Amino acid sequence: MNQHFDTILKSGTVVNQDGEGVRDIGVVGGRIAAIGSLGQASAGEVIDCKGLHILPGVMDTQVHFREPGLTQKEDLETGSRSAVMGGVTAVFEMPNTNPLTVTEAAFTDKINRSRHRMHCDFAFFIGGTRENVQDLPELERAPGCAGVKVFIGSSTGALLVEDDESLRRIFQVIRRRAAFHAEDEYRLNERKPLRIEGDPRSHPVWRDETAALMATERLVNLARETGKRIHVLHISTKEEILYLRDHKDVASCEATPHHLTMAAPECYERLGTLAQMNPPVRSADHRAGIWYGVEQGIIDVLGSDHAPHTLEEKSKAYPASPSGMTGVQTLVPLMLDHVNAGRLSLARFVDLTSAGPARLFNIACKGRIAAGYDADFTIVDLKRSETITNKWVASRAGWTPYDGVRVQGWPVGTFVRGKRVMWQGELATPSTGEPVRFLETLRP
Ligand code: DOR
Repeated sequence: MNQHFDTILKSGTVVNQDGEGVRDIGVVGGRIAAIGSLGQASAGEVIDCKGLHILPGVMDTQVHFREPGLTQKEDLETGSRSAVMGGVTAVFEMPNTNPLTVTEAAFTDKINRSRHRMHCDFAFFIGGTRENVQDLPELERAPGCAGVKVFIGSSTGALLVEDDESLRRIFQVIRRRAAFHAEDEYRLNERKPLRIEGDPRSHPVWRDETAALMATERLVNLARETGKRIHVLHISTKEEILYLRDHKDVASCEATPHHLTMAAPECYERLGTLAQMNPPVRSADHRAGIWYGVEQGIIDVLGSDHAPHTLEEKSKAYPASPSGMTGVQTLVPLMLDHVNAGRLSLARFVDLTSAGPARLFNIACKGRIAAGYDADFTIVDLKRSETITNKWVASRAGWTPYDGVRVQGWPVGTFVRGKRVMWQGELATPSTGEPVRFLETLRP
């Protein structure tokens, strides 16, 4: 058969549902048209991928891109630039912007701001509040909506629903899997006096493991009571891993690269407030517990929780310093370094960053390298050693907690729906991002 393709990715090691093997991929109209040996076929462009691994596009299901309202830290253009430079093909963005993404107008505004500016595909969470409960069933089904996100402990921004009664009302009306920031607000308030001025090592003492576990237990109980599904974001404790193992029917969960890479107190001693996140990075013991969750399949997805703040904001003395660090651009290289160190397999990395998000959020035509699916690829060089630097980071915040860290394994290409968006560190095709399509939001 003498086929013609727009693009052929030639002789890359393709990692997909079929295992790992050297194959060609033919792309037509932004979709994968054929996988195999396409030596006889013609193409508008043939890209030599020999020696490189072609992964299904990495989806980062938790980022904060700060637009509108907080654009001194980041905006949708700079955030998505950082994403594609790091090999990320789609992001789910969080609602704690200003105004908060809690109305149809605010949601539509974000979608409109993203078209022709964002470099990767995108979806937005809608914030669940006491005030918008009745609107959530409609809002969560808007095209481009990743679902409802609720903060049950306060973090950056004004979103907070801390009591079971209000949470129950939200659970009762929604249908899709909702995502939660799980730290118990009552316990956080009680423990505030434990913060030590100028000492971020006291951050995980204040926001302790019990606050995280209590919140996660409350959410699982509410999910069972109401027959709904929850997604617990950024797991930070070994106790939550063991607890969630017994509740996988109602609860999925996320791990972040920083909770898998850093440990207290060393990270606070070395990085100060740059390591300050909510929920906090904890002791090596908890880090080992989260790795156990990765090994055992308990963790469903990786999210970077990319939460940029300017260095000026971060230089305030703890606890006046805001919580959050950049991460969307470093997710792939850091995790490939963990792959090279033998901490997880490449197949498990793909499961966590493409198949996992697709399964949890019912994403249409993304999450695997299969004919008919979007031609989203993260192309990586597993042998390449590089040093992560602030200069490399495209986020407006301009810094990474991993400045100076040497890793093995590097993203060299980002394809979004057949377009070569990033290649060898250059932004090749800007501003062509589109909303991610979900099975529960597709409209005729
Ligand atoms: O540390 C954090 N920062 N955790 C969050 O949940 C929010 C985020 C932010 O938006 O800054």
